[in-house]
Amino acid sequence: MDSILVTGNGPLNGAIPIAGAKNACLTLMPATLLSEEPLTLTNAPRLSDIRTMTSLLQSLGAEVSTLQDGKVLAMSSHALDNHTAHYDIVRKMRASILVLGPMLARDGHAVVSLPGGCAIGARPVDLHLKALEAMGAELDLRDGYVHAKAPGGRLQGGVVEFPFVSVGATENALLAATLAKGTTVLKNAAREPEIIDLAECLRKMGAQIEGQGTDTITIQGVDRLNGATHPVVTDRIELGTYMLAPAICGGEVELLGGRRNLLEAFCTKLEATGVEISETDTGLRVRRAVDRIRAVDVVTEPFPGFPTDLQAQFMALMCTAEGVATLEERIFENRFMHAPELIRMGAQIDVHGGTAKVTGVARLKGAPVMATDLRASVSLILAGLAAEGETKVSRVYHLDRGYEHVVRKLSAVGAKIERIKES
Ligand code: UD1
Repeated sequence: MDSILVTGNGPLNGAIPIAGAKNACLTLMPATLLSEEPLTLTNAPRLSDIRTMTSLLQSLGAEVSTLQDGKVLAMSSHALDNHTAHYDIVRKMRASILVLGPMLARDGHAVVSLPGGCAIGARPVDLHLKALEAMGAELDLRDGYVHAKAPGGRLQGGVVEFPFVSVGATENALLAATLAKGTTVLKNAAREPEIIDLAECLRKMGAQIEGQGTDTITIQGVDRLNGATHPVVTDRIELGTYMLAPAICGGEVELLGGRRNLLEAFCTKLEATGVEISETDTGLRVRRAVDRIRAVDVVTEPFPGFPTDLQAQFMALMCTAEGVATLEERIFENRFMHAPELIRMGAQIDVHGGTAKVTGVARLKGAPVMATDLRASVSLILAGLAAEGETKVSRVYHLDRGYEHVVRKLSAVGAKIERIKES
């Protein structure tokens, strides 16, 4: 298993290009299952999660080719010759559940393994299933699989009221509703930029959707969808992660392709710590304007609130801030696994339930640490960039799921970082 070696090396300067969003791409790819015509995604990120989704779609009969070094995904689902998403693939990645809605909507039946729990919390899929039931689906849970059928071979429009906001459940319902008979209304829908991106792509394919980006999305089902070409929206989580690099190390870095409206709540918090953010013609420029960052409290919330996917990285920043910061995690119940690893580097963190109190120290010290999940792994790299001495982050396969070319991108702005190949 490979690891990453980081050595604190002072301020960072230069530019980092931001890739297309992993989470958008993972929901756009299953849209190919809705049409017999080709769907081409440009600006796709080169990540292991995307390769996992590629394998899953291929196992269902879709053709997926990667062009231009993986940045373009050309997909075609002329006919689906298998309607079962097997446990072996689904267990690797929770987003696999997103093939359920499209398969059911297109052919009236689907069997998908339940994804099970994962390290950051229980993460059930009950809201996905309730939404499909509201569209007439008959579901049977047995042997760890969801066996789904649409009576008469077609889903019916319905009203889905989510008890709380779920990004994935909104996406599954939106995908399915495009081909349902009649009108579907999604109430208390997620408003993330990735949902807007999905709706825009589906509209290019001929879907009739209104209200994306608000909490009520209305979909008028159509009989068929056509092909389309769509660029994947910028990855706001990769953007926020690299905005934190000059905040932690000092210096000035431009994030190419970055837009403030993808991350307004995060930008406001970052500015409160003493960081300057300016919009340029090509992206966002970030500069640490103070000698020592100030402690700032954060509460994670669905979009447009502060994203849970940036909580671990923000905690790394707070570890060396002046004062005490309280970070409250409201989306996932077990998402502070990076805290004990940061403590190994000299951080002072007290975790009580869903709240972490971080007391800033003058300097972190390099240490061997272990990545426990995707966002935790990159928070340890950020902490290592600011630490005295060497930090070795092991289990970096978590990182490969969501960050392309981390070593190349951070080296380009002056970081001392290398990947160590281990068998
Ligand atoms: C997506 C993102 C993930 C991000 C999360 C929250 C993808 C591939 N992943 O995950 O990176 O951290 O949004 O912004 O886009 N829940 C239920 N029942 C359900 C579905 C969700 O109880 O059927 C709960 C979850 O356990 C969690 C909360 O709802 O506590 C929000 O989860 P959700 O928004 O669905 O996250 P994902 O779509 O899984």
